[in-house]
Amino acid sequence: MTILPIRPGLEDETPYGAPELEVPARLNVNENPHPPSQAVIDDIAQAVARAAGGLNRYPDRDFPALRQALADYLGAESGVRLAGEQIWAANGSNEVMLHVLQAFGGPGRACLSFTPTYSMYPEYARDTLTDYVTVERRPDFSIDLEAAGERMRELRPAVVIVTSPNNPTGTALPAADLREILAVARGSGPAGADGAETDCVVIVDEAYAEFRRPGVPSALELLADNPHLAVTRTMSKAFGAAGLRLGYLAASRELVDVLRIVRLPYHLSAITQAAALAALAHREELMGQVASLRAERDGLVDWLRAQGLTAHESDANFVLFGPFADRRAVFERLLADGVLIRVVGPEGFLRVSVGTPEEMRAFRDSLGAVLTAG
Ligand SMILES: Cc1ncc(COP(=O)(O)O)c(C=O)c1O
Repeated sequence: MTILPIRPGLEDETPYGAPELEVPARLNVNENPHPPSQAVIDDIAQAVARAAGGLNRYPDRDFPALRQALADYLGAESGVRLAGEQIWAANGSNEVMLHVLQAFGGPGRACLSFTPTYSMYPEYARDTLTDYVTVERRPDFSIDLEAAGERMRELRPAVVIVTSPNNPTGTALPAADLREILAVARGSGPAGADGAETDCVVIVDEAYAEFRRPGVPSALELLADNPHLAVTRTMSKAFGAAGLRLGYLAASRELVDVLRIVRLPYHLSAITQAAALAALAHREELMGQVASLRAERDGLVDWLRAQGLTAHESDANFVLFGPFADRRAVFERLLADGVLIRVVGPEGFLRVSVGTPEEMRAFRDSLGAVLTAG
């Protein structure tokens, strides 16, 4: 028995995490349900074997080849040309955003986001001793720009996080709203070391961007005019490589250079770098599944509405639906049928990830039975 000197504030905390259960339909953490093809597996295996031959050495600390490959991918995906030096990467976009908070947050500083939203943001803030402040979204989950602007001007946050498409709601942020937030962020950051005015760093978390509907722009398009903007992406979702742990961001060179100060040396292993490069070479095949997942999602929204439920329009690979008087009971009944979804978001609502057609059939059968039973 020992009494450990746990940091004040962590005493009542528990480790974050959705349940990891071996069930036929795992629809709770917004993964891509399709495993990589044999061709992708073979290329990754060869690349990893080559990297293994050099494991006595530390990996490339600033991984320029991978950063260039990610910049090329973003160029192909969104039409925005970026230099490799504008890209930063880490073990998942969670770690990328933690780097941003480590670099710009800290004691006496604040991070602002718009709830309901992704539940890890308060943890980045807690872990960097940054205050976490939220502004509630409107009932349709859009951001109240007036309330946001007011709060930003009085709080002077170091970091503002907007999520588009947002998790768990699936809603994307209109470009005009983001432009306004970026404009208010100018000069609204905390006082600099010499008392000088600073801009708040605006993170646009685009973990689900590849699933957005046609015509919905990416915040990448605003990078050229906004050196205080950081757009985070991940290979965990559309790219179908959650197990790889590779997230990244695109920003100005100035912003990326600050992140290089706080990262641990060699944080991205040679194995991760090799596997990510090999996977990126297959981007067309991997992205091919995105179209079918989008179609499955839109069909799911229609089906849920036909059952008399509210299902929010989604630009992501999940749908928020409800309301249920006892959402926990609905979750449990689906789980008993081998369908794992997520209890998250506004009271009464549940979130389901878009899976394979077979998984979605299992979901519809199970939920249909629950609704019929009443
Ligand atoms: C909105 C959002 N951002 C970021 C992440 C983290 O993704 P990763 O760390 O796997 O890149 C998730 C994961 O579910 C998410 O929903």
